[in-house]
Amino acid sequence: MTNRELMERDLRHLWHPCTQMKDHEQLPLIPIRKAEGVWLYDFEGRRYLDAISSWWVNLFGHGNPRIAGAIARQARELEHVLLAGFSHLPAIGLAEKLVALSPEGLEKVFYADNGSSAIEVALKMSYHYHRNRGEERSLFLSLGNSYHGETLGALSVGDVALYKETYRPLLIRNIQTPVPADQSPEAAREALKALEALLEERGGEIAAMIVEPLVQGAGGMHMYGPEYLEGARKLTEAHGIHLIADEIMTGFGRTGTLFACEQAGISPDFMALSKGLTGGFLPLSAVLTTDEIYSAFYCDYSEYKAFLHSHSYTGNPLACAAALATLEIFESDGVLERNRIKARRIGENLRRFTELDNIRSVRQLGMIAAVEMTNYPPETRKGLEVYRYGLEHEVLLRPLGNVIYFMPPYVITEEEIDRMMEVAYEGISRIKN
Ligand SMILES: Cc1ncc(COP(=O)(O)O)c(C=O)c1O
Repeated sequence: MTNRELMERDLRHLWHPCTQMKDHEQLPLIPIRKAEGVWLYDFEGRRYLDAISSWWVNLFGHGNPRIAGAIARQARELEHVLLAGFSHLPAIGLAEKLVALSPEGLEKVFYADNGSSAIEVALKMSYHYHRNRGEERSLFLSLGNSYHGETLGALSVGDVALYKETYRPLLIRNIQTPVPADQSPEAAREALKALEALLEERGGEIAAMIVEPLVQGAGGMHMYGPEYLEGARKLTEAHGIHLIADEIMTGFGRTGTLFACEQAGISPDFMALSKGLTGGFLPLSAVLTTDEIYSAFYCDYSEYKAFLHSHSYTGNPLACAAALATLEIFESDGVLERNRIKARRIGENLRRFTELDNIRSVRQLGMIAAVEMTNYPPETRKGLEVYRYGLEHEVLLRPLGNVIYFMPPYVITEEEIDRMMEVAYEGISRIKN
Protein backbone atom coordinates (compact mmCIF):
# COMPACT_ATOMS: atom_id res chain seq x y z
CA MET A 1 0.00 0.00 0.00
CA THR A 2 1.31 3.43 -0.89
CA ASN A 3 0.46 6.80 0.63
CA ARG A 4 -1.19 7.77 -2.65
CA GLU A 5 -3.45 4.71 -2.80
CA LEU A 6 -4.62 5.33 0.75
CA MET A 7 -5.14 9.01 0.13
CA GLU A 8 -7.39 8.19 -2.83
CA ARG A 9 -9.45 5.75 -0.77
CA ASP A 10 -9.63 8.23 2.08
CA LEU A 11 -10.82 11.14 -0.03
CA ARG A 12 -13.58 9.05 -1.59
CA HIS A 13 -15.45 8.91 1.76
CA LEU A 14 -13.77 10.84 4.53
CA TRP A 15 -14.52 14.45 5.45
CA HIS A 16 -11.68 15.71 7.66
CA PRO A 17 -11.87 18.15 10.58
CA CYS A 18 -10.58 21.72 10.39
CA THR A 19 -9.88 21.28 6.68
CA GLN A 20 -10.89 22.88 3.39
CA MET A 21 -11.10 19.56 1.56
CA LYS A 22 -10.20 21.16 -1.78
CA ASP A 23 -6.72 21.84 -0.38
CA HIS A 24 -6.03 18.15 -0.86
CA GLU A 25 -6.05 18.60 -4.61
CA GLN A 26 -2.59 20.13 -4.00
CA LEU A 27 -1.63 19.11 -0.53
CA PRO A 28 -0.88 15.44 0.12
CA LEU A 29 -2.83 13.81 2.91
CA ILE A 30 -0.50 11.66 4.97
CA PRO A 31 -1.75 8.25 6.08
CA ILE A 32 0.09 7.11 9.20
CA ARG A 33 0.91 3.42 9.53
CA LYS A 34 2.31 3.42 13.06
CA ALA A 35 3.81 5.69 15.67
CA GLU A 36 6.35 5.39 18.44
CA GLY A 37 7.62 8.02 20.87
CA VAL A 38 7.66 11.39 19.10
CA TRP A 39 7.70 9.78 15.65
CA LEU A 40 4.86 9.12 13.19
CA TYR A 41 5.60 6.72 10.29
CA ASP A 42 3.78 6.77 6.95
CA PHE A 43 3.28 3.93 4.44
CA GLU A 44 6.36 4.78 2.41
CA GLY A 45 8.96 4.68 5.15
CA ARG A 46 8.98 8.42 5.85
CA ARG A 47 8.74 9.70 9.39
CA TYR A 48 7.54 12.92 11.05
CA LEU A 49 8.41 14.32 14.47
CA ASP A 50 5.09 15.15 16.12
CA ALA A 51 5.96 18.69 17.30
CA ILE A 52 2.34 19.42 18.28
CA SER A 53 1.55 16.18 20.16
CA SER A 54 -1.26 15.40 17.70
CA TRP A 55 -3.41 18.40 18.63
CA TRP A 56 -1.87 18.70 22.10
CA VAL A 57 -3.03 15.37 23.47
CA ASN A 58 0.08 13.23 23.61
CA LEU A 59 2.23 13.47 26.72
CA PHE A 60 4.46 10.40 26.98
CA GLY A 61 4.94 9.38 23.38
CA HIS A 62 2.91 7.43 20.86
CA GLY A 63 2.50 3.77 21.71
CA ASN A 64 3.63 4.34 25.29
CA PRO A 65 3.77 0.74 26.60
CA ARG A 66 2.59 1.55 30.13
CA ILE A 67 -0.56 3.29 28.93
CA ALA A 68 -1.16 0.76 26.14
CA GLY A 69 -0.77 -2.09 28.67
CA ALA A 70 -3.23 -0.52 31.11
CA ILE A 71 -5.84 -0.17 28.36
CA ALA A 72 -5.34 -3.77 27.21
CA ARG A 73 -5.69 -5.10 30.78
CA GLN A 74 -8.80 -3.04 31.35
CA ALA A 75 -10.34 -4.16 28.03
CA ARG A 76 -10.12 -7.78 29.15
CA GLU A 77 -11.81 -6.97 32.47
CA LEU A 78 -14.53 -4.41 31.67
CA GLU A 79 -14.65 -2.40 28.45
CA HIS A 80 -17.65 -0.25 29.26
CA VAL A 81 -20.68 0.09 31.45
CA LEU A 82 -23.11 2.97 31.75
CA LEU A 83 -22.30 5.37 34.57
CA ALA A 84 -25.88 6.06 35.63
CA GLY A 85 -26.87 3.70 38.42
CA PHE A 86 -23.57 1.81 37.96
CA SER A 87 -19.94 2.55 38.64
CA HIS A 88 -16.50 0.98 38.20
CA LEU A 89 -13.07 1.02 39.75
CA PRO A 90 -11.22 3.09 37.11
CA ALA A 91 -13.81 5.92 37.29
CA ILE A 92 -13.69 5.92 41.10
CA GLY A 93 -9.90 5.73 41.30
CA LEU A 94 -9.44 8.47 38.73
CA ALA A 95 -11.87 10.81 40.48
CA GLU A 96 -9.97 10.30 43.73
CA LYS A 97 -6.65 11.07 42.01
CA LEU A 98 -7.94 14.16 40.20
CA VAL A 99 -9.40 15.61 43.39
CA ALA A 100 -6.12 14.96 45.23
CA LEU A 101 -4.04 16.64 42.51
CA SER A 102 -6.23 19.64 41.67
CA PRO A 103 -6.45 22.99 43.50
CA GLU A 104 -8.07 22.93 46.92
CA GLY A 105 -11.84 23.06 47.07
CA LEU A 106 -12.49 20.99 43.92
CA GLU A 107 -14.13 17.89 45.35
CA LYS A 108 -16.54 16.51 42.76
CA VAL A 109 -15.82 15.05 39.32
CA PHE A 110 -18.26 14.89 36.40
CA TYR A 111 -17.02 12.94 33.37
CA ALA A 112 -17.70 13.56 29.68
CA ASP A 113 -15.80 12.36 26.63
CA ASN A 114 -14.14 15.31 24.88
CA GLY A 115 -13.04 18.85 25.61
CA SER A 116 -15.99 20.69 24.07
CA SER A 117 -18.45 18.51 25.98
CA ALA A 118 -16.64 19.35 29.22
CA ILE A 119 -17.17 23.03 28.44
CA GLU A 120 -20.87 22.42 27.75
CA VAL A 121 -21.10 20.67 31.12
CA ALA A 122 -19.40 23.53 32.99
CA LEU A 123 -21.58 26.20 31.30
CA LYS A 124 -24.80 24.29 31.90
CA MET A 125 -23.89 23.46 35.50
CA SER A 126 -23.08 27.08 36.24
CA TYR A 127 -26.33 28.39 34.74
CA HIS A 128 -28.31 25.63 36.43
CA TYR A 129 -26.68 26.30 39.82
CA HIS A 130 -27.86 29.92 39.79
CA ARG A 131 -31.30 28.85 38.62
CA ASN A 132 -31.58 26.23 41.37
CA ARG A 133 -30.90 29.06 43.81
CA GLY A 134 -33.59 31.25 42.27
CA GLU A 135 -31.38 33.52 40.19
CA GLU A 136 -31.65 33.91 36.42
CA ARG A 137 -28.14 34.48 35.05
CA SER A 138 -28.00 33.51 31.39
CA LEU A 139 -24.97 35.51 30.28
CA PHE A 140 -21.40 34.22 30.11
CA LEU A 141 -18.16 36.15 30.10
CA SER A 142 -14.94 35.13 28.37
CA LEU A 143 -11.65 36.63 27.27
CA GLY A 144 -11.02 38.20 23.89
CA ASN A 145 -9.12 35.80 21.60
CA SER A 146 -10.30 32.75 23.55
CA TYR A 147 -11.03 29.25 22.26
CA HIS A 148 -13.03 26.65 24.17
CA GLY A 149 -14.14 24.16 21.53
CA GLU A 150 -16.64 24.00 18.69
CA THR A 151 -19.94 22.66 19.95
CA LEU A 152 -22.43 25.54 20.10
CA GLY A 153 -22.03 26.47 23.78
CA ALA A 154 -18.25 26.21 23.63
CA LEU A 155 -18.20 28.19 20.39
CA SER A 156 -20.34 30.90 22.00
CA VAL A 157 -17.74 31.63 24.66
CA GLY A 158 -14.87 31.49 22.15
CA ASP A 159 -13.60 34.44 20.16
CA VAL A 160 -11.77 33.04 17.14
CA ALA A 161 -13.75 34.51 14.24
CA LEU A 162 -12.69 31.80 11.79
CA TYR A 163 -14.63 29.18 13.75
CA LYS A 164 -17.35 31.33 15.27
CA GLU A 165 -18.60 33.93 12.80
CA THR A 166 -20.71 31.64 10.56
CA TYR A 167 -22.67 30.24 13.48
CA ARG A 168 -23.31 33.52 15.32
CA PRO A 169 -27.14 33.31 14.95
CA LEU A 170 -27.11 29.95 16.73
CA LEU A 171 -25.08 30.91 19.78
CA ILE A 172 -25.86 31.50 23.46
CA ARG A 173 -25.33 34.88 25.15
CA ASN A 174 -21.74 35.80 25.82
CA ILE A 175 -19.69 38.96 26.23
CA GLN A 176 -15.95 39.40 26.14
CA THR A 177 -13.42 41.31 28.18
CA PRO A 178 -9.89 42.03 26.90
CA VAL A 179 -7.17 39.46 27.52
CA PRO A 180 -3.90 40.97 28.83
CA ALA A 181 -1.74 42.03 25.89
CA ASP A 182 1.31 40.06 27.06
CA GLN A 183 2.88 38.28 30.04
CA SER A 184 3.77 41.45 31.98
CA PRO A 185 2.15 42.50 35.29
CA GLU A 186 1.30 45.88 33.70
CA ALA A 187 -0.73 44.19 30.95
CA ALA A 188 -2.55 42.15 33.63
CA ARG A 189 -3.36 45.32 35.59
CA GLU A 190 -4.66 47.05 32.48
CA ALA A 191 -6.96 44.13 31.58
CA LEU A 192 -8.18 43.83 35.18
CA LYS A 193 -9.33 47.45 35.08
CA ALA A 194 -11.54 46.62 32.10
CA LEU A 195 -12.88 43.51 33.86
CA GLU A 196 -13.66 45.47 37.01
CA ALA A 197 -15.59 48.12 35.07
CA LEU A 198 -17.55 45.49 33.14
CA LEU A 199 -18.50 43.57 36.27
CA GLU A 200 -19.64 46.76 38.00
CA GLU A 201 -22.03 47.29 35.13
CA ARG A 202 -23.23 43.77 34.27
CA GLY A 203 -21.97 41.47 37.04
CA GLY A 204 -25.50 40.56 38.16
CA GLU A 205 -26.40 39.03 34.78
CA ILE A 206 -23.33 36.81 34.45
CA ALA A 207 -23.34 33.13 35.44
CA ALA A 208 -19.65 32.42 34.88
CA MET A 209 -16.42 33.76 33.51
CA ILE A 210 -14.41 31.23 31.52
CA VAL A 211 -10.67 31.47 30.87
CA GLU A 212 -7.85 29.47 29.36
CA PRO A 213 -5.38 30.01 32.22
CA LEU A 214 -2.07 31.62 31.16
CA VAL A 215 -2.04 30.37 27.53
CA GLN A 216 -4.71 30.80 24.86
CA GLY A 217 -4.04 27.90 22.52
CA ALA A 218 -6.02 28.15 19.30
CA GLY A 219 -5.88 31.94 19.63
CA GLY A 220 -2.23 31.68 18.55
CA MET A 221 -0.51 30.55 21.80
CA HIS A 222 -1.11 33.97 23.31
CA MET A 223 0.32 34.15 26.84
CA TYR A 224 -0.50 36.32 29.84
CA GLY A 225 0.62 36.54 33.46
CA PRO A 226 -0.74 34.86 36.62
CA GLU A 227 -1.53 38.29 38.14
CA TYR A 228 -4.56 38.46 35.87
CA LEU A 229 -5.94 35.15 37.10
CA GLU A 230 -5.44 36.22 40.68
CA GLY A 231 -7.34 39.45 40.06
CA ALA A 232 -10.09 37.77 38.05
CA ARG A 233 -10.61 35.24 40.84
CA LYS A 234 -11.12 38.02 43.40
CA LEU A 235 -13.43 40.04 41.16
CA THR A 236 -15.62 37.11 40.09
CA GLU A 237 -15.95 35.98 43.70
CA ALA A 238 -17.01 39.46 44.78
CA HIS A 239 -19.81 39.44 42.16
CA GLY A 240 -21.03 35.89 42.82
CA ILE A 241 -19.81 34.79 39.37
CA HIS A 242 -18.28 31.36 38.83
CA LEU A 243 -14.78 31.09 37.44
CA ILE A 244 -14.32 28.25 34.95
CA ALA A 245 -10.69 27.32 34.32
CA ASP A 246 -10.47 25.60 30.95
CA GLU A 247 -7.29 23.58 31.53
CA ILE A 248 -8.04 21.31 28.57
CA MET A 249 -4.83 22.38 26.86
CA THR A 250 -2.82 23.81 29.77
CA GLY A 251 -3.40 20.91 32.17
CA PHE A 252 -1.05 18.03 32.93
CA GLY A 253 2.23 19.86 33.00
CA ARG A 254 2.13 21.82 29.76
CA THR A 255 2.83 25.18 31.40
CA GLY A 256 5.45 23.86 33.84
CA THR A 257 3.11 23.08 36.75
CA LEU A 258 0.58 20.26 36.77
CA PHE A 259 -2.20 22.83 36.30
CA ALA A 260 -1.71 26.42 35.14
CA CYS A 261 -3.98 27.73 37.94
CA GLU A 262 -1.30 26.72 40.45
CA GLN A 263 0.98 29.49 39.17
CA ALA A 264 -1.60 32.06 40.27
CA GLY A 265 -2.39 30.23 43.51
CA ILE A 266 -6.09 30.25 42.67
CA SER A 267 -8.87 27.72 42.89
CA PRO A 268 -11.63 28.03 40.29
CA ASP A 269 -15.26 26.94 40.74
CA PHE A 270 -14.96 24.60 37.76
CA MET A 271 -11.92 23.08 36.12
CA ALA A 272 -12.28 21.40 32.72
CA LEU A 273 -9.76 18.70 31.77
CA SER A 274 -9.27 16.60 28.65
CA LYS A 275 -6.55 16.17 25.96
CA GLY A 276 -3.49 15.03 28.00
CA LEU A 277 -5.72 13.39 30.60
CA THR A 278 -5.37 9.98 28.91
CA GLY A 279 -1.83 10.61 27.67
CA GLY A 280 -3.30 11.09 24.19
CA PHE A 281 -4.71 7.55 23.88
CA LEU A 282 -8.46 7.88 24.26
CA PRO A 283 -11.13 10.59 24.41
CA LEU A 284 -12.14 11.52 27.94
CA SER A 285 -12.88 14.71 29.82
CA ALA A 286 -13.69 15.69 33.35
CA VAL A 287 -15.21 18.73 35.01
CA LEU A 288 -14.16 19.24 38.60
CA THR A 289 -16.25 21.40 40.88
CA THR A 290 -16.91 22.28 44.51
CA ASP A 291 -19.11 20.71 47.16
CA GLU A 292 -20.98 23.99 47.34
CA ILE A 293 -22.03 23.77 43.68
CA TYR A 294 -22.79 20.05 43.94
CA SER A 295 -25.06 20.64 46.92
CA ALA A 296 -27.24 23.11 44.96
CA PHE A 297 -28.38 20.12 42.85
CA TYR A 298 -28.80 17.70 45.77
CA CYS A 299 -32.41 17.36 46.84
CA ASP A 300 -35.48 15.12 46.60
CA TYR A 301 -36.27 13.99 43.04
CA SER A 302 -39.57 15.87 43.07
CA GLU A 303 -37.77 19.23 43.33
CA TYR A 304 -36.35 18.62 39.82
CA LYS A 305 -32.95 20.16 40.45
CA ALA A 306 -30.75 17.27 39.29
CA PHE A 307 -28.11 17.78 36.61
CA LEU A 308 -29.32 15.45 33.86
CA HIS A 309 -26.56 15.91 31.29
CA SER A 310 -25.34 12.57 29.89
CA HIS A 311 -23.17 11.01 27.17
CA SER A 312 -23.21 7.30 26.33
CA TYR A 313 -19.47 6.92 26.87
CA THR A 314 -19.25 9.07 30.02
CA GLY A 315 -16.37 7.84 32.19
CA ASN A 316 -15.45 4.99 29.86
CA PRO A 317 -13.34 2.44 31.80
CA LEU A 318 -10.67 2.11 29.09
CA ALA A 319 -10.18 5.87 29.01
CA CYS A 320 -10.12 6.07 32.82
CA ALA A 321 -7.53 3.27 32.91
CA ALA A 322 -5.40 5.20 30.40
CA ALA A 323 -5.73 8.32 32.57
CA LEU A 324 -4.70 6.44 35.70
CA ALA A 325 -1.63 5.05 33.92
CA THR A 326 -0.80 8.57 32.72
CA LEU A 327 -1.00 9.98 36.25
CA GLU A 328 1.16 7.12 37.52
CA ILE A 329 3.88 8.16 35.08
CA PHE A 330 3.75 11.70 36.51
CA GLU A 331 4.14 10.25 40.00
CA SER A 332 6.93 7.78 39.27
CA ASP A 333 9.06 9.55 36.67
CA GLY A 334 9.66 13.06 38.02
CA VAL A 335 8.09 14.41 34.83
CA LEU A 336 7.76 18.06 35.84
CA GLU A 337 11.44 18.21 36.87
CA ARG A 338 12.63 16.58 33.67
CA ASN A 339 10.45 18.89 31.64
CA ARG A 340 12.20 21.87 33.21
CA ILE A 341 15.46 20.80 31.55
CA LYS A 342 13.71 20.25 28.21
CA ALA A 343 11.89 23.58 28.48
CA ARG A 344 15.24 25.28 29.05
CA ARG A 345 16.54 23.72 25.85
CA ILE A 346 13.46 24.90 23.96
CA GLY A 347 14.06 28.40 25.35
CA GLU A 348 17.70 28.38 24.22
CA ASN A 349 16.65 27.42 20.69
CA LEU A 350 13.89 30.02 20.70
CA ARG A 351 16.28 32.94 21.11
CA ARG A 352 17.69 32.48 17.61
CA PHE A 353 14.33 33.15 16.01
CA THR A 354 14.45 36.79 17.07
CA GLU A 355 17.31 37.30 14.57
CA LEU A 356 14.95 36.66 11.66
CA ASP A 357 13.51 39.80 10.14
CA ASN A 358 10.05 38.27 9.54
CA ILE A 359 9.47 37.59 13.27
CA ARG A 360 7.29 39.81 15.48
CA SER A 361 7.76 38.04 18.78
CA VAL A 362 8.64 34.79 20.54
CA ARG A 363 7.15 33.48 23.76
CA GLN A 364 7.29 30.44 26.00
CA LEU A 365 5.72 28.93 29.07
CA GLY A 366 7.00 25.53 30.14
CA MET A 367 6.60 23.02 27.30
CA ILE A 368 4.79 25.48 25.01
CA ALA A 369 6.75 27.83 22.79
CA ALA A 370 5.60 30.04 19.94
CA VAL A 371 7.16 32.13 17.21
CA GLU A 372 4.93 34.79 15.71
CA MET A 373 5.79 35.81 12.18
CA THR A 374 5.13 39.16 10.54
CA ASN A 375 1.46 39.97 10.16
CA TYR A 376 1.11 38.30 6.74
CA PRO A 377 -2.45 38.56 5.34
CA PRO A 378 -4.35 35.27 5.91
CA GLU A 379 -4.84 34.64 2.17
CA THR A 380 -1.05 34.46 1.63
CA ARG A 381 -1.03 31.32 3.85
CA LYS A 382 2.59 31.68 4.86
CA GLY A 383 2.03 29.27 7.74
CA LEU A 384 1.17 26.60 5.19
CA GLU A 385 4.58 27.10 3.57
CA VAL A 386 6.23 26.38 6.93
CA TYR A 387 3.98 23.33 7.35
CA ARG A 388 5.05 21.98 3.96
CA TYR A 389 8.70 22.69 4.63
CA GLY A 390 8.39 20.89 7.98
CA LEU A 391 6.90 17.77 6.41
CA GLU A 392 9.65 17.66 3.77
CA HIS A 393 12.15 17.69 6.64
CA GLU A 394 10.52 15.15 8.97
CA VAL A 395 8.76 17.55 11.32
CA LEU A 396 5.02 17.94 11.79
CA LEU A 397 4.44 21.61 12.60
CA ARG A 398 0.89 22.87 12.24
CA PRO A 399 0.99 26.66 12.37
CA LEU A 400 -1.95 28.68 13.66
CA GLY A 401 -2.06 31.39 11.00
CA ASN A 402 1.24 33.25 11.36
CA VAL A 403 2.17 31.54 14.61
CA ILE A 404 4.53 28.58 14.47
CA TYR A 405 4.49 26.76 17.78
CA PHE A 406 6.08 23.83 19.55
CA MET A 407 4.23 21.56 21.95
CA PRO A 408 6.00 18.21 21.70
CA PRO A 409 5.39 15.03 23.72
CA TYR A 410 7.41 15.13 26.95
CA VAL A 411 9.53 12.17 25.84
CA ILE A 412 11.27 14.31 23.22
CA THR A 413 15.07 14.29 23.60
CA GLU A 414 17.24 17.39 23.62
CA GLU A 415 18.65 16.44 20.21
CA GLU A 416 15.12 16.09 18.85
CA ILE A 417 14.24 19.51 20.28
CA ASP A 418 17.21 21.02 18.43
CA ARG A 419 16.19 19.30 15.20
CA MET A 420 12.51 20.28 15.48
CA MET A 421 13.37 23.92 16.03
CA GLU A 422 16.12 24.00 13.42
CA VAL A 423 13.64 22.84 10.78
CA ALA A 424 11.13 25.49 11.85
CA TYR A 425 13.85 28.13 11.77
CA GLU A 426 14.88 27.13 8.25
CA GLY A 427 11.26 26.99 7.10
CA ILE A 428 10.52 30.48 8.42
CA SER A 429 13.74 31.97 7.07
CA ARG A 430 12.89 30.74 3.55
CA ILE A 431 9.61 32.63 3.38
CA LYS A 432 9.65 35.32 0.75
CA ASN A 433 7.82 38.52 1.60
C1 LIG B 1 -8.57 25.30 25.67
C2 LIG B 1 -9.42 24.34 24.92
N1 LIG B 1 -10.67 24.10 25.32
C3 LIG B 1 -11.47 23.23 24.68
C4 LIG B 1 -11.04 22.54 23.57
C5 LIG B 1 -11.96 21.58 22.87
O1 LIG B 1 -11.56 20.26 23.06
P1 LIG B 1 -12.04 19.13 22.00
O2 LIG B 1 -11.28 19.42 20.74
O3 LIG B 1 -11.65 17.85 22.64
O4 LIG B 1 -13.50 19.28 21.83
C6 LIG B 1 -9.74 22.77 23.11
C7 LIG B 1 -9.26 22.07 21.91
O5 LIG B 1 -8.31 22.44 21.28
C8 LIG B 1 -8.92 23.69 23.80
O6 LIG B 1 -7.67 23.95 23.39
